[in-house]
Amino acid sequence: MKMLVTGGAGMLAYDVLRVAEQAGHELLAIDLPELDITDAAAVDAYFEDHRTDAVVNCAAWTDVDGAEAHPDAAHAVNATGAGNLARAAASSGAALLHLSTDYVFDGHAPVDAEGRERPYLESDPTGPRSVYGRSKLAGEREVLAASPRHTVVRSAWLFGVNGRNFVDTMLRLASEREAVQVVDDQIGCPTWTGHLAPALLGLLERDVRGLVHLAGSGAVSWNAFAREIFRQAEVPCRVEPATTAQMARPAPRPAYSVLASERPEVLPMPDWRDGLAGYLAARAGFTRASA
Ligand SMILES: NC(=O)c1ccc[n+]([C@@H]2O[C@H](COP(=O)([O-])OP(=O)(O)OC[C@H]3O[C@@H](n4cnc5c(N)ncnc54)[C@H](OP(=O)(O)O)[C@@H]3O)[C@@H](O)[C@H]2O)c1
Repeated sequence: MKMLVTGGAGMLAYDVLRVAEQAGHELLAIDLPELDITDAAAVDAYFEDHRTDAVVNCAAWTDVDGAEAHPDAAHAVNATGAGNLARAAASSGAALLHLSTDYVFDGHAPVDAEGRERPYLESDPTGPRSVYGRSKLAGEREVLAASPRHTVVRSAWLFGVNGRNFVDTMLRLASEREAVQVVDDQIGCPTWTGHLAPALLGLLERDVRGLVHLAGSGAVSWNAFAREIFRQAEVPCRVEPATTAQMARPAPRPAYSVLASERPEVLPMPDWRDGLAGYLAARAGFTRASA
């Protein structure tokens, strides 16, 4: 299929392009400054000039804390920009797969009939607590309103070779000090972009539409994630516990944002620990290749 990847220079886009190329798709990738998705006329003109069967929108304002100080700019990219792409894709007959986030939830874990915590499903009510989360939720709505052929995938806690991410930050800190403090009261699903990218292409190829939850299987706190990073990387760095209140940041994060899908056509992703192992191997190769 002929596929356009917007935000094509970003972290997730790198693996989407790599996997789509291996699968034999015909690819176009675009990013700032060539195409600004907040510019509706430019987006329309781009679609008139380039026919595509499918679009994967990886373009986004992803600076979660920066969005608190720049709400209009974050909304312009994550909501208006997503809507511009979704309408242009629909008019040109292309399906759009758009990325969203676990930060659309408020973080109060849903409970099952026995009162036990359970993951957030697609049908659970949203309640974003940050500017970023609200802008992404508005984008979801714009995309799904533009066409029944479009897909919105909520994922979480991404790490991949072509972007700044938590795993890299931990490994850098470990090279500078003997111990790190990491919050142990936020639980989520770390997701390797090397696992997410083929899962996204699978959704497009199988025409899975509408809202989908797709993240690394399992659940873990940032603190336990950091410990697993050092264990797998064989780095002798101590991980000390901290609370969210101690590590104050501009944007509030959901305390619990584990995602699962209630849709039978959505295949579960590999465990986050396998994603971490895949990432550490890919990262070593990526560093060598680009050195
Ligand atoms: N990272 C995570 O942990 C995470 C978790 C859940 C969901 N997601 C979602 O997954 C998607 C991909 O995330 P990512 O981490 O791969 O993002 P990323 O690395 O930050 O890439 C986003 C790309 O979009 C570009 N962009 C920003 N504004 C644009 C505009 N107005 N027009 C065109 N392109 C623009 C960025 O360019 P500049 O770098 O020049 O700004 C960047 O190349 C996003 O929708 C994000 O919300 C991410």
